[in-house]
Amino acid sequence: MKRKHTPITMLTAYDFPTGRACEAHGVDMTLVGDSLAQVCLGYDATTRLTLDEMVHHCRAVARGSKAPFLVGDMPFGTYQAGVDDAVRNAVRLVREGGVDAVKIEGGVEYVDLVKRLTTVGIPVMGHIGLTPQRQAILSGFRVQGKSAEGAVSLVDSALALEAAGAFAIVLEAIPHAVGAHITRRLHHAATIGIGAGWETDGQALVWDDLVGTWSGHMAKYVRRFGDVRGEVERGVHAYVQAVRDRSFPSPSESYNMPAEAAGRFVGLAGARGDEP
Ligand code: KIV
Repeated sequence: MKRKHTPITMLTAYDFPTGRACEAHGVDMTLVGDSLAQVCLGYDATTRLTLDEMVHHCRAVARGSKAPFLVGDMPFGTYQAGVDDAVRNAVRLVREGGVDAVKIEGGVEYVDLVKRLTTVGIPVMGHIGLTPQRQAILSGFRVQGKSAEGAVSLVDSALALEAAGAFAIVLEAIPHAVGAHITRRLHHAATIGIGAGWETDGQALVWDDLVGTWSGHMAKYVRRFGDVRGEVERGVHAYVQAVRDRSFPSPSESYNMPAEAAGRFVGLAGARGDEP
């Protein structure tokens, strides 16, 4: 797709229905992102997510999506302690979670890991720019690569990841010019932008940002393509009202007994002395 300049779509999914929706609507790559921690599990940071939780959600998405290429994020702490440990954890994501590839946050410092994972047959997606697992050391969610030196260091990371065998690299929250430059410099690895402008090989969005179910901070690059939260609010409010005013369920939403059985039922209940 990169070679043909066909824009690549990537969307996050966290469970069976969202995985199915990605498949049904022709998304190219489904990512079980560690944004799962905040948008689904209510943690305050992606760093709280465990590998067991990630595997559990990957399995659900994998059951719902067969066609899109399925990528699973390696949670914080599952690839920092050494290459052997990381390989063991990536194997769990593939074998138990059913993913096709894993994503790791970082650049030059993970070259050995990317080489090893690809050597053992696990495709790797890199992730540079704003890397939420490092939000504490980055002092929050900030656009990266705004200085010339910062931009050059992102280019170096992208080239190193490509040379190590990464098949794609997420570019998060970086200036458009840097996203475009990296995309032109890479010949094999596809760039998937999320807040990296319009000239990357593909785009990614977080499910809850796209459908409008996330009520927290909304980054500049987010476009809401739907208003599911509004629909949920309307639906749940109407349900509560309808139960309280006894308009739900209606006769057409209730089961009937044959008239003869109903008559005998009243007779039998009366004979037992049941109060009407
Ligand atoms: O965790 C996630 O959802 C991600 C996307 C922002 C690419 O990594």
